[in-house]
Amino acid sequence: MKRIAILISGGGSNMLALVRSMTGDHPARPVLVASNDPQADGLVKACDLGVPTAAVDHRPFGRDRAAFEAELLRHIAAANPDILCLAGFMRVLTPDFVARFEGRMLNIHPSLLPKYPGLHTHQRALEAGDTEAGCTVHEVTAILDDGPILGQARVPVLPGDTSDSLAARVLVQEHHLYPAVLRRYAGGDRSPVLL
Ligand code: GAR
Repeated sequence: MKRIAILISGGGSNMLALVRSMTGDHPARPVLVASNDPQADGLVKACDLGVPTAAVDHRPFGRDRAAFEAELLRHIAAANPDILCLAGFMRVLTPDFVARFEGRMLNIHPSLLPKYPGLHTHQRALEAGDTEAGCTVHEVTAILDDGPILGQARVPVLPGDTSDSLAARVLVQEHHLYPAVLRRYAGGDRSPVLL
């Protein structure tokens, strides 16, 4: 059974979808949900589901990312995960941190990568006049929102869409895609999931 740690920064709806999926014959189980924001709603939700939680506030560390990550790593190491899932984790990780989890750290990003790495993905898709949007799960490398693609889900952009309406449509697909990718990945299959 693979041990999964999930990093969040906010509401944690993707984290919830992942945790709820890990039952029965699923080859993985959640062992930790950690956040850089002690107020993140997702921490309460994880706790309610009986998953151990940890919070490491990044703010007291200022610009010292390495010190923040060392503290985060202390909690992660104690949970001894096989795979780390970033699920709405909004801190950029240093190459040193990424190297520790090379080949076993996943991220979900709300665009059809390689389009629109970074922030404001839905607004950028609308401004570009795209007729299609979506989300991507990929392996994390030292380059932001890069790394081998493990799955994508697509949605149409509809007339009158705002970034909020598009984000909501994409989020529904995120909740299908991420659990589907994790199930496959934890079972040792890295072929992409296409929804
Ligand atoms: C999700 O849409 C996720 O794709 C995005 O943040 C949201 C988190 O929602 N992630 C990124 O933008 C990472 N660069 P959630 O907390 O409800 O899962």
